[in-house]
Amino acid sequence: MASTHSGSWDAAATLAARVVRAARAATGLDLAPEEALLRRGSARHGADFQANLAMSLARRLGRDPRELAAQIVRELDVRGLAAPAQIAGPGFINFRLDDAWIAGALAATSSDPHLGAAADHAPRRVVVDYSAPNIAKEMHVGHLRSTIIGDALARVLRFVGDDVIAQNHVGDWGTQFGMLIEELDDSGWSADGAISDLDAFYRRARAHFEADPAFASRARERVVALQAGDPATRAAWRQLVAESHRHFAVVYGLLDVALTPADMAGESSYNDQLPGVVEALASAGLLQPDRGALCVFPEGFRNRDGAPMALIVRKSDGGYGYATTDLAAIRHRVGALGAQRLLYVVGAAQRQHLHMVFATARAAGWLAEGVEAEHVAFGSVLGEDGKVLRSRAGESVKLVDLLHEAITRAGDAIVARSGVADEALARTVGIGAVKYADLSSDRVSDYVFSFERMLALDGNTSVYLQYAHARAAKVLRLAGDGAVAADDADHLLREQHERALGLALLGFGPAVDHVVSTLQPHRLCTYLYEVATAFSAFYESCPILTAGEPRLRAPRLRLTSHTAAVLRTGLDLLGIGAPERL
Ligand code: ARG
Repeated sequence: MASTHSGSWDAAATLAARVVRAARAATGLDLAPEEALLRRGSARHGADFQANLAMSLARRLGRDPRELAAQIVRELDVRGLAAPAQIAGPGFINFRLDDAWIAGALAATSSDPHLGAAADHAPRRVVVDYSAPNIAKEMHVGHLRSTIIGDALARVLRFVGDDVIAQNHVGDWGTQFGMLIEELDDSGWSADGAISDLDAFYRRARAHFEADPAFASRARERVVALQAGDPATRAAWRQLVAESHRHFAVVYGLLDVALTPADMAGESSYNDQLPGVVEALASAGLLQPDRGALCVFPEGFRNRDGAPMALIVRKSDGGYGYATTDLAAIRHRVGALGAQRLLYVVGAAQRQHLHMVFATARAAGWLAEGVEAEHVAFGSVLGEDGKVLRSRAGESVKLVDLLHEAITRAGDAIVARSGVADEALARTVGIGAVKYADLSSDRVSDYVFSFERMLALDGNTSVYLQYAHARAAKVLRLAGDGAVAADDADHLLREQHERALGLALLGFGPAVDHVVSTLQPHRLCTYLYEVATAFSAFYESCPILTAGEPRLRAPRLRLTSHTAAVLRTGLDLLGIGAPERL
């Protein structure tokens, strides 16, 4: 039977391996586990899983699919795991897991701190580049996705044992600082020494720059002074940076993301390393002059006319830009931080930039063999009109405003339901809803931001999951301490809904592992929704505390407690709270 390590409690993976072994014996073909084509089975046929490989193999070999299925089944050994396989239709091979196996798997995974995840994971050091707002600008919804997705991935990777280093690649350098510092000198700080509205400040500086040539030339001189390290100019720049960090910290606090000042690695932190990047590229023979600038033309990148595309590493005025900084960051992350995997949680629009940077770093030898760099791309947030989300005034929407509105709406809903105001709960529900709406859609697609939909009590929402968790928590509270430990595993899976819930709970490990391999948090959301749905069917049809026979009570409580653990842990991996009451 299954060994003690929890990887073997992945029923689908175990079945797939056995099916493939049998199919190899039956056909002599060397097949990979995915070629078992193992799918969820239909409950109507009493099947938990089905393997669909007989049809495609038969086509390949010019044989009769049903007959081939029968031959595979003859070679198949699923003792201790499932009942003898049944062939259906044109050659589906159906499996029904043994109740005893499910019960054993539930006992093992419920007491495992990882609830069945991460059994075979080889830990790595992973840098996750996420959030990365820009100084002297308010964070907007574009940064919302990066922050939420990056934080969820960091949590999931930490959970499975990776050594995660978050890097907040804040945009804190560039020629715009000349005009911002001059504006600071002119219109200055408000009385309380703060800039209350960063965006308005930025707009004012830009307007000033465009309308006033004297101001513009002072701003240009400021850029030179800043780059030369003039103390007064540097001090003004540092003030601006600090002020922006205060604004970011408010948003991070509201979102409850784990980003700290220690994770800040702004563009400016690479300044000293930029000349070295260019020199190293030159000695590697990768640089080409182009209209006064120095460029790399990484292989495989061509524009619409088929001409090679340039990654500019030194501009014609001698300055360095975004690409050079990203190259320096790669050297730092691999060299100094020892990263084996680099993740960039950045909007899809920067795909080409990042891929050119990766290709250049690879050519320069900074991404050693075995070190992966991946763009974890995401789409835009759309308004209900299907266009990129804007405020009524047509400006991009501020993140803080959105988050506060979510909290307010959640609070109103709580008052309407329970008659009591609860601020902390409103926050957990409201922020959770914003995060979950983002994480539960396929990250590469755009999604429509709708308060109404994200705060709905039913459907695939965080509120639904939190509600299921609170319901389970209430049952456990009423049962009292110690009620769950007393157990009678033989009666664990008598009813259809108990068995379905048990099977769903076993899916936690595979779901988490799937997020690790695909970097798609929505896989975990879809899974948790399934668990919540299975729990509510179980809850409706299987009395727990009032179970007629006392020996039904303990196993049902155990399923309930396992459900609560899966929902709580799963929500936590998404960065969402699971309140005890709702
Ligand atoms: N600050 C950039 C922006 O707002 C994102 C930076 C992403 N990270 C990176 N290493 N380029 O678009």
